[in-house]
Amino acid sequence: MLAVGPNGVGKTNLLESLHVATQGFSPRTRTDAQLIRFGASAARVAVRGHRATTPVEIELVLETGVAKRAKLNGAALRTAEQLRGETATLVFTPDRLGVIKGAPAARRAYFDRVLGRLAPARAHLPAEYGAAIAQRNAALRLRSNALSAWTEQVADLGTQLVAARKEALAAIAPPFAERAGELGLADAELRYDGEPPTVAALEARLERDLERGITSVGPHLHDVVVAAGPRELRSYGSQGEQRLAMLALLLGEAELIAERRGFAPLLLLDDVLSELDPARRRILAGRIQQGGQALITATDAAMLPWEPDQLVEVGHGTAR
Ligand SMILES: Nc1ncnc2c1ncn2[C@@H]1O[C@H](COP(=O)(O)OP(=O)(O)OP(=O)(O)O)[C@@H](O)[C@H]1O
Ligand SMILES: [Mg+2]
Repeated sequence: MLAVGPNGVGKTNLLESLHVATQGFSPRTRTDAQLIRFGASAARVAVRGHRATTPVEIELVLETGVAKRAKLNGAALRTAEQLRGETATLVFTPDRLGVIKGAPAARRAYFDRVLGRLAPARAHLPAEYGAAIAQRNAALRLRSNALSAWTEQVADLGTQLVAARKEALAAIAPPFAERAGELGLADAELRYDGEPPTVAALEARLERDLERGITSVGPHLHDVVVAAGPRELRSYGSQGEQRLAMLALLLGEAELIAERRGFAPLLLLDDVLSELDPARRRILAGRIQQGGQALITATDAAMLPWEPDQLVEVGHGTAR
């Protein structure tokens, strides 16, 4: 489906509402109040569709000052975030390029979400490890007796987290390389940069860490190198190549999700066509048409080098 309209009419709003309705949160902001129309006190999104062959109806309501509520096929969910376990949605927005070109923290956050989607049983690890680091840092600053217990905890959870991240990378790397190659980015690679933290490694840094009050080794400082052959794309990729790498990550993950969960994720692609040459747009089209459902936004229908199944013309407050 292609959503077209001039700048500022609400194409991204439409795309965002589909993310909120299918995942329970916005890809842009954690402040749900921003999603409610200016001057209004509540917002509602309702979607109807299929997950594989099962009909799915979701209704989500946001109200200022009240926790958001979601219903799946008429039954209230405990939290709107539970939608994540029920439907799968992957989103590309121009901000996402930060995953390729931004600081390591952006990549860690992204790949930890990939990890959560591919291995839901271990989705809690990044937050649990983060909490252990916070506790250890507090113990360092207070020079508390609890320090050695938190050192062990950091080593243990950190080792589990590194293993889980490496496994997620090993799963996504082949489809990523394949999709990247198809889009003209040869020898694309994902490399984990970091070692599991051991108690010995943590203690070797103890003097320094006590002085500074922070833990200076562990997966909270690791990175994932996204490269094409010998070139690290963060520093040496062109704008278009960085976009292709991000798309290849998304398409690679979409394939894995389809394989593992038995249904293809909904793809939301905001402003994906700009900066891509016509040949690459056609390749992207071919790939998208092979499975699942996709919503693409553009300011001009001519940017899409193929006929969409559905064309939505977005105007101020309208979609036709
Ligand atoms: N909570 C809100 N209530 C009302 N309007 C809002 C709200 N949040 C954002 N807007 C406005 O909605 C308008 C449409 O934004 P949107 O990002 O969807 O446009 P777009 O069609 O994607 O434009 P572009 O082609 O430039 O990407 C913007 O002018 C924005 O300021
Ligand atoms: Mg937009």
